[in-house]
Amino acid sequence: MITVHTIRELREQVREARQQGRRIGFVPTMGNLHDGHISLVNNARQRECFVVASIFVNPLQFDDPDDLARYPRTLDQDQNMLAAAGCDLLFAPDVNEMYPEGQDRQTIIHVPEVSEGLCGGSRPGHFDGVATVVNKLFNMVQPDMAFFGEKDFQQVAVIKKMVADLCMPVEIVPVAIKRADDGLALSSRNGYLTEQEREQAKGLYQTLQEIADDFRAHKDIEQTLKTARERLDQRGFRTDYLEIRRTSDLAPATAEDDSVVILGAAYIGKARLIDNLLIDNLTITLNP
Ligand code: PAJ
Repeated sequence: MITVHTIRELREQVREARQQGRRIGFVPTMGNLHDGHISLVNNARQRECFVVASIFVNPLQFDDPDDLARYPRTLDQDQNMLAAAGCDLLFAPDVNEMYPEGQDRQTIIHVPEVSEGLCGGSRPGHFDGVATVVNKLFNMVQPDMAFFGEKDFQQVAVIKKMVADLCMPVEIVPVAIKRADDGLALSSRNGYLTEQEREQAKGLYQTLQEIADDFRAHKDIEQTLKTARERLDQRGFRTDYLEIRRTSDLAPATAEDDSVVILGAAYIGKARLIDNLLIDNLTITLNP
């Protein structure tokens, strides 16, 4: 695997791969990689792409300077993991390469509606920062396909809408959430957890599964979520949001929807964890 730090070198490498007739598959990340990120690389490899990963801790998407400062930076370890996974090229720019005129003078991409509420509600400006950096990265790499984890379900929706609205010639491929054995979704932020908090953390996915069972049983959204919030409290979480949305556009769900997604964000100690669970085929009657 080759690592490059400038847009010029990146374009040279991508051009060569294209000349060899390769399709370009892109996996954008902020580093501190785990098996969730690697599953995106594996997906790109399965599609026989020339795999380009990026590592850039994007200041534009952090609303809290302390959160940005303590975000783990582990480039050497990440390079080893990517090389072992068969990634072809790593792009690891610094902040001046990405924002040469400074962040305050950067053109901003705002994706309406799907960016609002959920993580967009609790982290103002977050999805403008994500959409802007992903747009820039797409223009730098010019991939045929780009791979995003469903762990960040709202992020996938935001990127899909940006690509559709701006007619960007890239296929967005969502990849299933990679979880630890006890169900906790893998995340760079799990490293902030103490041993005891890590044990409690599995309660988030457990609560989402209980919501799915309750919702299937009686489709009472308010009651289901009220009970679930109490359970999260009992399990040691401070709930940020817990919602049931329509899968297609993340609008508030109704009892008539066929496919909904339960989305949750909750603090445990200093770490803010997010997770989601899709429930499909809600309107299928099994014994007509
Ligand atoms: P980051 O949090 O590093 O995540 C990079 C990609 O890995 C995202 O698409 C995310 O959804 C995916 N991912 C993380 N944990 C996962 C898991 N447990 N299972 C499957 N996929 C997982 O998301 C970002 O970075 C940034 O917002 C970025 C898109 C790079 C823009 O800065």
